[in-house]
Amino acid sequence: MIKLINVTKIYAGQKEPAVRELNLTVEEGESCVLVGPSGCGKSTTLRMINRLIEPSSGTILIDGKDIRETDPDQLRMGIGYVIQQIGLLPHRTVAENIAIVPRLYGWPKDKIKERTDELLELVGLDPETTRSKYPAQLSGGQMQRVGVARAMAVDPPIMLMDEPFGAVDPIARNHLQDEFLRLQSLMRKTICFVTHDINEAIKMGDRIAIFNRGELVQHGSPHEILSNPVNEFVRDFIGYDRVVKKLSLCRVGAIARKDFGVIRESELPAAAEIMRKQQTEVSFLLDHLGAPGGMLARKLIEKQGAALSPGALKELAQKGREAFIQEDALLRDALSLLFELSVDYLGVLRGETLCGVVSLADIREYAAGKEVD
Ligand SMILES: Nc1ncnc2c1ncn2[C@@H]1O[C@H](COP(=O)(O)OP(=O)(O)O)[C@@H](O)[C@H]1O
Ligand SMILES: [Mg+2]
Repeated sequence: MIKLINVTKIYAGQKEPAVRELNLTVEEGESCVLVGPSGCGKSTTLRMINRLIEPSSGTILIDGKDIRETDPDQLRMGIGYVIQQIGLLPHRTVAENIAIVPRLYGWPKDKIKERTDELLELVGLDPETTRSKYPAQLSGGQMQRVGVARAMAVDPPIMLMDEPFGAVDPIARNHLQDEFLRLQSLMRKTICFVTHDINEAIKMGDRIAIFNRGELVQHGSPHEILSNPVNEFVRDFIGYDRVVKKLSLCRVGAIARKDFGVIRESELPAAAEIMRKQQTEVSFLLDHLGAPGGMLARKLIEKQGAALSPGALKELAQKGREAFIQEDALLRDALSLLFELSVDYLGVLRGETLCGVVSLADIREYAAGKEVD
């Protein structure tokens, strides 16, 4: 756990503090993203945590212990640090760069070699072809991966990451973000991650700390912040598409309901009757193999159902034959599909199997503030 208590930093010769009376706790195993406009004090905050900069006043605790009681070099050996400029040594190979901290710890050669290969694999690089290369022979994305591998070399419980993916193109950045999230789900390190990009913050943070002019303006989960921005600054910073961003936080499976009916093709003549009995808003049509192939909404059937022939019912149901979405899709994508098909319901699939239903009303309810685990 990292705890900053009333931390202020005023650089020599500056009138305004770069960081002012900051109180912030990052829980064990949590990733906290510091986000805000350029110059708001994010990097200063990060560097105070590994004592590259000393606060002017206030206290920083790591696992309850004041970091001033630990020798700065010792402290930094136990904290992974990744920066945008990457900072790989140009005249050392990838393997040598990764080995810097393990060498300081005096690890034997075999162990370092083994760990280096393991780390390269972990960050998605082929050890065989990468370990002997020099940084200049790598792409920006590859260098960034080596930077992450180096920071993780001795498996530190804490990682400080300052705009780690800022220098790579958007596609590579997206990739690196996804891979880092995957790693974090396995490792559960305590992470302080700096970015100026609110989308990156929403994606990467268990919690987000929004800064403005050296002050912490709001601290909370992405859901909390998108639902209740505390002031105009936060509202503006998040952007006008606040609701759409929120729909990117949640997967369809998390809000899908079970109360849907199913009608087999052979049961179509009695569809209206069955739906009345099932009392569900929607039923999905299953073909003779049991595969979902359409949808019938009760309000539609009640209006005209009894008058329709089985053939007409089937045709009606098949208008919704594309109204299915995987449970791990985002609500944003579900909304898009609902609009595209002009339907009110989507069947939720786990692989090929129908496992739930999600409606426009459900998505609206989530967007309006309902929290989901
Ligand atoms: N070494 C320094 N000396 C003087 N002022 C600095 C120094 N480093 C940063 N600052 C100032 O402190 C403020 C916060 O900077 P910084 O923490 O780098 O912001 P961010 O990382 O959010 O862009 C800025 O106004 C910046 O100009
Ligand atoms: Mg910075």
